[in-house]
Amino acid sequence: MDRKKFLKNLGLGVVAAPIVSTTLISCSSNDNINEGGTTANCGVTKSDMLGPYYVSGTSKITNLNTQNLSGDKIVVSGKIYGTADKNSPVANAMIEVWHADNGGIYHPVGDGNVSNYQPSQITLRGFIVTDAQGNYTFESIRPGLYPGRPRHFHYRITANGYKILVTQIYFKDDPTTSNENIESCRIVDFQKDSKGAYKGNADIHLQKN
Ligand SMILES: [Fe+2]
Repeated sequence: MDRKKFLKNLGLGVVAAPIVSTTLISCSSNDNINEGGTTANCGVTKSDMLGPYYVSGTSKITNLNTQNLSGDKIVVSGKIYGTADKNSPVANAMIEVWHADNGGIYHPVGDGNVSNYQPSQITLRGFIVTDAQGNYTFESIRPGLYPGRPRHFHYRITANGYKILVTQIYFKDDPTTSNENIESCRIVDFQKDSKGAYKGNADIHLQKN
């Protein structure tokens, strides 16, 4: 569904478009300090805004694109650590992921519990659990752009003994990433493999309770 049709269905119409844009901008990043470093050490991963489209209670899943939406295939992998260094991988961490489709629209464009929606309204959302070595991986399509934000994934990570981390992961090849002061460790250099799928690594460092 294109944006115009989507707004019409919401009963907002064209007049409401600026309001929607304002809401979208509210999902912007915090005032992160650009540390100018490499992926070697940014310390504990910085938090970012939850945004207006977090839906709780989604399913455990490895391919978020449950409705076969069009877009570039992407595979994100990484490791969850329990310290600023790489000495303590966290097993059984729950990583909830959600992101916009190829056209910059979330499914649903809303929040609350998943039970408030029809299954057909839910996609590009779900959670992954880290293995014994703290590794995670998921597939999806590359998030699209929407006004006011660089391309991004939303993460919400919960693990026993650690503070809940709400953050976002960004794309090195998106020139608008530099519009926000994002430290280098959350900017992933996704590369296309021989089959045309984007692949990248996003490690996260949690903070103990
Ligand atoms: Fe977002």
